[in-house]
Amino acid sequence: MMINTVLEEIYRTEKVLDPEGTPKDAFPVSLSRSDGEALYDVVTHTNGSRTLEVGLAYGISALHILQALQDNGGGAHTAVDPYQQKWWNGIGVLNVKRAGLQDIFRCFVEPSYMVLPRLLGDKERYDFIFIDGNHRFEFSLLDFFYTDRLLQTGGRIMLHDTWMPSIRKLFSFIDTNRRGCYRLDTRFCGGNRTGSDRWRAFAQALKASPLDIHAARLYAAHYFHNYIVLEKIQEHDPEKIDAEWNFYAAF
Ligand SMILES: C[S@@+](CC[C@H](N)C(=O)[O-])C[C@H]1O[C@@H](n2cnc3c(N)ncnc32)[C@H](O)[C@@H]1O
Repeated sequence: MMINTVLEEIYRTEKVLDPEGTPKDAFPVSLSRSDGEALYDVVTHTNGSRTLEVGLAYGISALHILQALQDNGGGAHTAVDPYQQKWWNGIGVLNVKRAGLQDIFRCFVEPSYMVLPRLLGDKERYDFIFIDGNHRFEFSLLDFFYTDRLLQTGGRIMLHDTWMPSIRKLFSFIDTNRRGCYRLDTRFCGGNRTGSDRWRAFAQALKASPLDIHAARLYAAHYFHNYIVLEKIQEHDPEKIDAEWNFYAAF
């Protein structure tokens, strides 16, 4: 993998620099090096040119995505983060500039639940979307709801932080309510867990959220590392589904 010098420096020092050059801890908020490398691989493999991410923070995931786009021959990356100034002191946007990648980057400093519907209204479409914003269930579900409509068929989604019950629950929703529209991309996440490993993961997931049995079973079935990669194989039109008007599948 080609890693740019700004990223290399951040992983070496575990710090990011604010506009005055004062170091701040880059972790735990930022993507680990191995998750970043996986992100880079997914974007390069998807071979698309339009990418979107929810949750910019210090720009570590953005730098991986932008580097992948550049190595693929170019593209355009959009990031969304309402707290880019308030919490992160503009460091995410600054890091993109430091890496010289600002020409293929834009950032909306607003919540994703306001920006994504607007992008949809503007008929934007993306080849890859990274969801790593507000991890509470309803926020993640909304991010997925719009992602589902913004993503081209053949595109990929990466959901970060599978250790969180809310993200496991979101995957459980996708599995039960978008069956046939998404395929788990096992090249990037998980083979199948077996035997005691599976039971251990099941018990661990149930301990974190005791009533989420389906989500725990799904989680325990695969080695997810810390992310789920899904390939969109079919468009889903909620107005034209085969199901009854009062369709509901528990998840
Ligand atoms: C775990 S951090 C993202 C880390 C980043 N992806 C990286 O690895 O470099 C989560 C981010 O989500 C942002 N966030 C919180 N609520 C949000 C919302 N409603 N819409 C978009 N982003 C949100 C936070 O400001 C924070 O920067």
